[in-house]
Amino acid sequence: MKFSAIKGFRDILPEEVGNWQRLESVAREVMDAFGFQEIKLPLMERTELFSRSIGQETDIVSKEMYTLHDSKGRGMTLRPEATASVVRAYNQHRMDQNGAVQKLFTMGPMFRHERPQKGRFRQFYQVSAEMLGDPGPKSDADLIAMAMHLFDSLGLKDLKLHLNSLGCPECRPKFRAELEDYLFQQTDGLCSDCKRRAKTNPLRVFDCKVEACNQVVLGAPSILEFLCKVCGEHFETLKSYLESAGVDFILNHQLVRGLDYYTRTTFEIQTEQLGAQNAVAGGGRYDSLVRLLGGPDQPAIGFAVGVDRIIALLEKEDQPATKKPDLFIAALGETAEMSCFKWAMDLRKAGLWVEMDYGGKGLKSQMKKAGRFGVKKVLIIGEEELTSGKGVFRDMDTKEQEEIDLNNVLETMEKALKTDD
Ligand code: HAM
Repeated sequence: MKFSAIKGFRDILPEEVGNWQRLESVAREVMDAFGFQEIKLPLMERTELFSRSIGQETDIVSKEMYTLHDSKGRGMTLRPEATASVVRAYNQHRMDQNGAVQKLFTMGPMFRHERPQKGRFRQFYQVSAEMLGDPGPKSDADLIAMAMHLFDSLGLKDLKLHLNSLGCPECRPKFRAELEDYLFQQTDGLCSDCKRRAKTNPLRVFDCKVEACNQVVLGAPSILEFLCKVCGEHFETLKSYLESAGVDFILNHQLVRGLDYYTRTTFEIQTEQLGAQNAVAGGGRYDSLVRLLGGPDQPAIGFAVGVDRIIALLEKEDQPATKKPDLFIAALGETAEMSCFKWAMDLRKAGLWVEMDYGGKGLKSQMKKAGRFGVKKVLIIGEEELTSGKGVFRDMDTKEQEEIDLNNVLETMEKALKTDD
């Protein structure tokens, strides 16, 4: 029987990995510059952690979680996102106690049982950044500017920042009541899920994927008109700090995000290049979540980058050159093979990528293999070279060959290869 990866799950092949590594290293540099420290978290958590944080009525919790049960029947879920886990860890390790704002980031796979399509996978990857203990709004601007700087550093320019505020427990109920009234008048145009959501959690109608529901929400009232004084001031300060940092944004009152924990600031970074799956990052403030999960009363804000989608954009822009070995050593005969084996080890310890062939093949076949690797330099060593103490160093592009002294072979190779790009 021949196996393939499960639908929605995929392999990232060696030739694709370059962009993933680049994104990870740029993300680490940017996080470092903004004072975020890495945290590594489990892939599985108690199911209630996600259902309580993300919300029962959300698509993620109601339809998309991969859950299994332990021997006591307790639900364990593969994480659909990282924020709930970061907050669980923050509470568990009492990270609030040193009094400082905690800035944490984490990278890794997330799991959602969504319908796979271009840019949407069941196992996908996020870089997630969370700032806990600062009420904003200046820190909101700081975090959003960091997200934009990350994309800038990757050379991605055509991204649009959409910004909204979802208000707070003070002002959102008034908006909710207004929205409920509006949706009540439009029930005929809603899908069956949204007919229910219109009563239980009307904000969720905004992120329904059914086209008819998208049409209905176009005429919905704007939450920005319902913000209380404190939320309004928060939003104004955020906007003016973003402006002063030169970060452009589009106000989008329909941006409610697909998770229940948000309060005040929400944002999404979108591209026009990936079709329907246009969000490459999303986030917002979640001032009640730490307490909801049994922790202290600490405000927080964060965002997550959809790594798979960023990689798709990077692949559209340009393909980084695939890496090639620095040197191929063609050893002819057992004695030569053993000497070359030792040299290869030493050169690798010095940081060079060295390849050899252990198949006991002739020179022609080994040169063919070196060609397939795309290597620029080959060191050819047979019994004769070992006896004379002079090896052959061949440039595969110019086909020129020079004799090198085998007494200083490591030094000579290092010099020749490290100065060679
Ligand atoms: P989210 O909007 O659910 O937010 O996901 C963030 C990003 O992950 C999306 O904008 C998208 O790029 C990517 N993404 C989501 N689902 C998939 C999928 N099935 N396939 C490929 N990419 C996907 C969160 O997860 C929140 N935890 C963000 C956050 C952090 N809010 C506060 N802190």
